[in-house]
Amino acid sequence: MCGIFGYIGKRKNAGALVIKGLKNLEYRGYDSWGVAMRLSDGSIKCEKDVGKIGAVNPDQFKEESSLAIAHSRWATHGGVTKINAHPHFSCDQTIAVIHNGIIENYGEIRDELKAKGHTFRSETDTEVIPHLIEEELKKKGTTLEEATRRACIRFTGRYAILVLDARSQTLVAARTGSPLIIGVGEGGEYFIASDIPAFLEYTRTVQYLDDGEMVAVHDGKIRFSDIASSAERTKRLVTIDWTVSEAEKGEYEHYMLKEIMDQKDSIRRAVHQDDEEILAVAKSIENCIGCILTACGTAGKVCMAADYFFSVVAKRHVNFTPASEFPIFHHFLRPESLIIVVSQSGETADVLEAMKVAKAAGSKVLAIVNTQGSSIARAADYTLLINAGPEKAVASTKAATGQMAVLLLVAHAVAGKLHEGRTLLLETSGQINDMLNPRYIDHIRDVAKKIASHDNMYIIGKGWNYPMAMESAIKIQEVSYIHAEGFAAGELKHGPIALIEKGTPCIALMGNDEFTADMVSNIMELRARGAQIIGIGPKKFDVFDHWIKVPDSGAAQAIVNIIPVQILAYLLAVIRGRDPDMPRNLAKSVTVK
Ligand code: G6P
Repeated sequence: MCGIFGYIGKRKNAGALVIKGLKNLEYRGYDSWGVAMRLSDGSIKCEKDVGKIGAVNPDQFKEESSLAIAHSRWATHGGVTKINAHPHFSCDQTIAVIHNGIIENYGEIRDELKAKGHTFRSETDTEVIPHLIEEELKKKGTTLEEATRRACIRFTGRYAILVLDARSQTLVAARTGSPLIIGVGEGGEYFIASDIPAFLEYTRTVQYLDDGEMVAVHDGKIRFSDIASSAERTKRLVTIDWTVSEAEKGEYEHYMLKEIMDQKDSIRRAVHQDDEEILAVAKSIENCIGCILTACGTAGKVCMAADYFFSVVAKRHVNFTPASEFPIFHHFLRPESLIIVVSQSGETADVLEAMKVAKAAGSKVLAIVNTQGSSIARAADYTLLINAGPEKAVASTKAATGQMAVLLLVAHAVAGKLHEGRTLLLETSGQINDMLNPRYIDHIRDVAKKIASHDNMYIIGKGWNYPMAMESAIKIQEVSYIHAEGFAAGELKHGPIALIEKGTPCIALMGNDEFTADMVSNIMELRARGAQIIGIGPKKFDVFDHWIKVPDSGAAQAIVNIIPVQILAYLLAVIRGRDPDMPRNLAKSVTVK
């Protein structure tokens, strides 16, 4: 939520640099954008507007500057207006602030500051930050770092902030609950962003800011400290293995399509795990008393599929609870419990909250994440990376299949069949490589054209295809805005079948499994009410109006079945003139609860 990017160093093009870098974080929010750059005369140039930063030309910020911050917003407090766009300023216009998160007690702070004569321009919670810092700076001998620290101590809520002080030419950042990463460049230059792709072009050496910490950069020197105690902190330098090309669109029109096509290779990368680590994780699952999977959105549907993986492959009972609901079940947690959290970004607020609850009960946490060094990865007791590389489209595709691959591998390891699991997944990876060719996409485009004008779609599946039906619905909803719902095939007759009309598109996710007869019966029931059936599975049946073939992948069927739905959702969005990478109202990396 909200993209943050700041630069301080010797380069002279800081304004253009932060705008360009921020375009790589647009998936975090795209309601409005803004930039503040310190000019050589000591003043600040600020530009902001509603709309996407993607459309902004970085060259319009060609004035000489070595200190700048930029922000793309996902609105929480205050509507999507130019005035509410960040940065926000102190009364004297020398302090500019950008912010991700929510300052919950902003109301009382704003009233207090107003009483002291501060003038507020926006409806945002953010605007209290520069004014409070300005107030603190009035106290003799106070540095920007100290003033920001005192301000942060007053705030409740989750936030990441960047503070630019034009007078002292200092950049200060602080975090409590929302991510901030420092990119370390050459000769005392620093990049501070909410996500790595912002500065990947300049450096792959990073330092992570943890919750409750702040950092101040001035004159080429950097100082990390604890917000509460002001004690200095030392930070490790970490090298990131993502590359610039992985984070770019390349030949593709959209990131979503690029990331779908990357599944030719990403499953293999996901399976590339250290045997000892997988076996250690398997042991902790075997030995724990009570194992709960938790996550949000698509990662949550992956967890539901994993319920089936553990049940069918490992005969082990594991339950899924959405992360936002997880704290309600804290009574059942104990030190012997194991919580498995799944997240692409590694920053989702509800997941972090669930981890906090689990830790408070003394339970252990296994994290399956894509983003190395993310808050979730660092807070977990064990972490498995899925190695999907940067995922930038808001709709999760390759991360979801990578997460399923790792969970299926772990389920095999719990069953004492690690080698068998890896072989299955490597074969599946080869099948996906063969499947993802231009003819395949053309065929799905033909199907998409036939159903794109419908306002409602339903998806059914049984076994692990049931959570995939729910995930299919998310994919279609979020990028094409078509109303879509996923059901367990057997549940249709208990209510949803009332929604079927002549021509209603219904997608049936099938496997070459013992559920075929049941699925065919459920499809017949739909057809009898006029539904148009799109069958996705390894075998063709007469009950299908359209068939999208997938390989027969046994226990990995859920992974291959979701891929044509991802393509279908993408094509439905394109046909209906939607932007699949930046769907309305959504954002990636949801750092608010
Ligand atoms: C958002 C994204 C989804 C994602 C979910 C969980 O809603 O739009 O694609 O599945 O957050 O995110 P995470 O990063 O924890 O996987």
